[in-house]
Amino acid sequence: MSVHPQPQIAVLDAGGQYCHLIARRVRDLGVYSEVRPSDIPASELASFRGVILSGGPASVYEPGSPTADPALFDAGPAVLGICYGQQLMAHLMDGSVRKGDKGEYGQAMIEVAMRDGLFAGLEPRESVWMSHRDQVEKPPSGFTVAASTETCRVAAIANPARRLFGVQFHPEVVHTPCGSRLLRNFVFDICGCVADWNPRSQIAMIEDEIRQQAGSRNVFFFVSGGVDSSVAYRLCLRALGPERVHGAYVDTGFMREGETEFVQRTLGVDVVHARPAFLKALDGVIEPEKKRHIIGEQFVAVQDGVLTTGHYLDGDWVLGQGTIYPDTIESGGTAKAEVIKTHHNRVAGIQKLIDEGRIIEPLKSFYKDEVRDLGRAIGLPSELLDRHPFPGPGLAIRLLCSGEELEMEASEDGWIMPVHSVGVQGDSRSYRPVLVFDEPLSPALLERATHTVNRVSRVNRVIAHLGGHAPVGEQKVRAAHLTGPRIDRLRKADAIVRQLSLESGFENDVWQFPVVLIPCGSADRPDSVVLRPIHSVDGMTAQSVLMSADLAERMRVELLAIPGVCSVYYDLTHKPPATIEWE
Ligand code: XMP
Repeated sequence: MSVHPQPQIAVLDAGGQYCHLIARRVRDLGVYSEVRPSDIPASELASFRGVILSGGPASVYEPGSPTADPALFDAGPAVLGICYGQQLMAHLMDGSVRKGDKGEYGQAMIEVAMRDGLFAGLEPRESVWMSHRDQVEKPPSGFTVAASTETCRVAAIANPARRLFGVQFHPEVVHTPCGSRLLRNFVFDICGCVADWNPRSQIAMIEDEIRQQAGSRNVFFFVSGGVDSSVAYRLCLRALGPERVHGAYVDTGFMREGETEFVQRTLGVDVVHARPAFLKALDGVIEPEKKRHIIGEQFVAVQDGVLTTGHYLDGDWVLGQGTIYPDTIESGGTAKAEVIKTHHNRVAGIQKLIDEGRIIEPLKSFYKDEVRDLGRAIGLPSELLDRHPFPGPGLAIRLLCSGEELEMEASEDGWIMPVHSVGVQGDSRSYRPVLVFDEPLSPALLERATHTVNRVSRVNRVIAHLGGHAPVGEQKVRAAHLTGPRIDRLRKADAIVRQLSLESGFENDVWQFPVVLIPCGSADRPDSVVLRPIHSVDGMTAQSVLMSADLAERMRVELLAIPGVCSVYYDLTHKPPATIEWE
């Protein structure tokens, strides 16, 4: 029995960060879609009404770059190539692609030449989101150029007779306002799909599936306090009853203030206290990816301990997990995407359970928004469902460390602060210093930050100094590790920011609001706090969001009262080129 209807649209994954976003957008239109590897034989796509070729980091001329079956373009389903997908289409047919001399990242204006079919309803000029370097030089024969920008002549191509289309920009991101219209045109008008997908109506079926899979066995869960594992856990509780479902929550010590108590109260799970073990394992570690690995390994050790002592590896238990759709596509799909940040480590015991098929993943075909919807339908509180996303490694990856003392450096664009943070550009990872503007927040400053970070390749992030106990130029990066007192300092800062965001309503204007502690300041106040409020749809792309001067001032005053905090900074960088989290 399957919980899902036959997918109507296949999204072929060429390794891009946006691939899942495309599939989700299509589902948002009420049309069930699934991700497939880009090189799947065209014959296996015959039952789909349409195919979307996703973007990706590679260049079509690179050896080993993702490709597609050329027969796809004669097979029957309509095809839309996005970004790399458009380039691949041109390359596999008789068009050509050339290396761009400079990248085009962020907002761009297209002139729309074709105004019907895929482009019906678009204005003559539309703002779109670009993230590319290569571009199509010559469209394949039979195609016309449907849109252009200043730097990219072939911003869209169309061969309506053969139902083949390509766009260089990303219609799936919110920063392309006409994008949803374009996808709707493709899915309904070009492909003839029917809107029949609504995740909420699936609840009874999901519960049946849980009962069927569990059989006579019980279900054990590690619950993180996040939306996915909470919803999956509650669905199992509903399906099997509390006697047969058991949950445990690992307190790493990197949780936000009050979080552990909240999860315990709301979900009624057991709490495993592991803060000392995590701190010990991270003692002296500075490099972000190393920190992530150690946290992952430590999770493994703690979880293994719980599995063993609770006898959950015995035959009468299965493991429940909050895996959602984007986590499951390992072959073909996301496996091709470059590792920007390591998210998961797998527990050996859990691997054993998976190998033995003793695993229940009730949400494995659902996207985040769909999971939230399910959670609402089964009565989970909005405080849990609508909370901002919080990374598994918690505050530990919002607390930056340094092995040495380093000076600020003056540059014509502002101070270069030698604190490195992670970024993403054209789907590749960057790790670079930060540029500081010592000026008050304003929309003009945000705009200047966007231009500057694209121009100054030494940095991948720009922050504004909101004020502090010492001038920027006199601050230094200090040697600092991940310690209990620093985590507590960050937790305090995070709690202050969260409280003020809630009170002012700013919390609702942002999708996520990381608060970051950086080892930069004066001798007696060695750390500073960075505010990182962003708007996003699902973390794939993000925009820095400004707050009112009044709120910024209140945050600054309260944060500067924390012992050890020297300055308050404000992150002005979009994603790309910066990532949301600093590590
Ligand atoms: P980045 O920093 O890559 O973050 O732009 C995108 C989104 O992912 C979250 N994030 C994580 N979530 N485990 C998680 O469960 C992790 O290790 C992790 N790292 C980043 C981040 O908070 C943002 O929402």
